[in-house]
Amino acid sequence: MNIKNKKLLNLVKKIFIKHKLSTKHAEISARALINAEIVGAYGHGLSRLKMYCDRIKKKVINPKPKIRIKKISQSISHIDANNSIGFVAADIAIKKAIQNAKKTGIGLVAVKNSGHYGLSGYYAEQAVNKNLVTMIYTNAPPAIAPHGARKSLFGTNPICFGTPSGLKAPYILDTSISMINRGKIRFASKNNQKLPIGVALDKFGQPTTDANKALKGVQLPIAGFRGSGLAWMVDILSGVLTGSNHAGKVKDPFEDFSGPQNIGHLFITFKTNLFVKDYNNRIKDNIKKVKRLPKVKGTKEIMYPGQNKYKRYKINFKKEIKISKIIKKELEILKK
Ligand SMILES: NC(=O)c1ccc[n+]([C@@H]2O[C@H](COP(=O)([O-])OP(=O)(O)OC[C@H]3O[C@@H](n4cnc5c(N)ncnc54)[C@H](O)[C@@H]3O)[C@@H](O)[C@H]2O)c1
Repeated sequence: MNIKNKKLLNLVKKIFIKHKLSTKHAEISARALINAEIVGAYGHGLSRLKMYCDRIKKKVINPKPKIRIKKISQSISHIDANNSIGFVAADIAIKKAIQNAKKTGIGLVAVKNSGHYGLSGYYAEQAVNKNLVTMIYTNAPPAIAPHGARKSLFGTNPICFGTPSGLKAPYILDTSISMINRGKIRFASKNNQKLPIGVALDKFGQPTTDANKALKGVQLPIAGFRGSGLAWMVDILSGVLTGSNHAGKVKDPFEDFSGPQNIGHLFITFKTNLFVKDYNNRIKDNIKKVKRLPKVKGTKEIMYPGQNKYKRYKINFKKEIKISKIIKKELEILKK
């Protein structure tokens, strides 16, 4: 890692420790935020640090959680995160899911009483690096109106699938089911940037490119009722199934300090050789067939999900993370 980024990582870690996180939990959380910056997911990076610290101060994130892991079977675990910062709950959960899958072939880990954990793909990478297939779901505060409704209720509820690809970059499809993720809208709002057309409506139901108006209105799901259905299913898998908040009850981390978020996550991991012996060759062949297809004009390379992020990571890993004036100021205040 670039030496300046290491310094930044240590600064973020110190800020978390100052906000009463243990050294281990501060390290996990700081690494997740710095990773988001490196892969260019700025809406899930340092622009959220102040929010986490504010939530700890207001006692709606528990800096010293007693996280309990209930063993349901050799494969299945249920984690009560005790309102920890989401990064820590997710880190424990993916490690448990990996452990269960390595033992039995499949790991299923449900998490309740958690918070916003950042990028699903960050956890998927851990499973894929251990040669496992993974599916990860989390719910999020209301942002999207269910198909046919005028009020938002579902979160941007990302769906994430990961698998070893047999190639350098892992295959990781990690996507919110909104046209763009809410972090990008918050980032645009903080930095006075316009939104693309067709991603949000204002509170009167009119299309808007104004990020502040979009935050007060509703975001649009991908693919109409299909996206709305996917968001709903993620809410069921992450919220209803795990014992967490659901149906619009997850609190907005930036605006609602009336209690913990009680977000839920579901982590599924399984071995690649359950049904065939030569999975890695088969998937490599599968991806190569897709990549060799004739391309539409303007496309240099047909990419598979995760490939672009892997490239960005490799390039940015050595470069200094650029932070805006606003975030610099926040860091200065938070470290005091
Ligand atoms: N924790 C939360 O509550 C929460 C909520 C929403 C989103 N998120 C996270 O935000 C992140 C960003 O989400 P997003 O929806 O903006 O993702 P995105 O639109 O940047 O990418 C979505 C997926 O499409 C793939 N992709 C992009 N360009 C491609 C191309 N040209 N060819 C093939 N595949 C391509 C990416 O690799 C990725 O897997 C994700 O990591 C997600 O987990 C978190």
